[in-house]
Amino acid sequence: MNEDRRRTTADREEEIRREIRERTEYAADGSASLIVARSAGFCFGVKRAVDTVYEQVKTGQGPICTFGPIIHNEEVVRDLEEKGVRVIRDETELTSVTEGTVIIRSHGVPMYIYEMLREKGLTVVDATCPFVKKIHRYVHEYSQNGYDIVIIGSASHPEVEGIRGWCLRPPVVVATEEEAEAVPRGTDRPLCIVSQTTFNLKKFYKLVEIIASLRYDKPVVLNTICNATEERQTEARSIAELADAMIVIGGRHSSNTQKLTEICKKECNNTFFIQTFDDLNPSLLPSRGCVGITAGASTPNNLIEEVSKQCRKIILNRC
Ligand code: F3S
Repeated sequence: MNEDRRRTTADREEEIRREIRERTEYAADGSASLIVARSAGFCFGVKRAVDTVYEQVKTGQGPICTFGPIIHNEEVVRDLEEKGVRVIRDETELTSVTEGTVIIRSHGVPMYIYEMLREKGLTVVDATCPFVKKIHRYVHEYSQNGYDIVIIGSASHPEVEGIRGWCLRPPVVVATEEEAEAVPRGTDRPLCIVSQTTFNLKKFYKLVEIIASLRYDKPVVLNTICNATEERQTEARSIAELADAMIVIGGRHSSNTQKLTEICKKECNNTFFIQTFDDLNPSLLPSRGCVGITAGASTPNNLIEEVSKQCRKIILNRC
């Protein structure tokens, strides 16, 4: 990390800590407090994708389908299904779609899926997050220019599958230090490293350091971690440092929520991962001290508000 970036990160962390102090809510006698993270919930890309589907339900050419669930949140997906939106799970299911609109979710899809949709004459509404789209462009251009690609991220995550599908040669996907050590030391081709947008920033730099130290050449490193994720993780870490209990709300299959939980657990042993308020055992919350709340990028606002409201009642004795 260069000096400027380190300074900017430190400044932003200080700003986040100041915001947290301002956002803290206290019980009347000051014995307990609650902090709800400002960055909890939908990020720009997810909000854009979800809004797109609701808009297509009203104005689009039906039947409306999404390629994969629009977000990792069962409640939202169920609500859309009730409104007639069908989820296409994979390419095999796509072969049975003969008419209507297919919405591509914020995670993006491989290039060949666009070709399939075009060939079938379906209307395509692309809700790929622009930050993910940028990674598609990077890997496509770099592989066109002869680079091998390393994607730092989870191989099975749909976003990584999508990025993989824009590389002109099979990329190497790395998620652990062992995998980083196994990246080829050098070939005829230079190396370009990108990241899944939701990957942990510190882990990303650690893996880049390992790969770079083993290479004969200097790889091109593109930090494509989304700011929304970085901000959410930094804020969650800062709140968890202060908290006696930490609540992380999100979908079971949401990788960014899992990472958030991992980060919070490092700072606060009493970290609870929940999907809705019903998953929380209120007797485990401390009667004094500080409780923090954060949520993954695909957690709808109404769920965060419900948990916050109930916690205000339990912890701060407020209605
Ligand atoms: Fe996009 Fe960042 Fe969200 S990449 S989908 S704004 S986490």
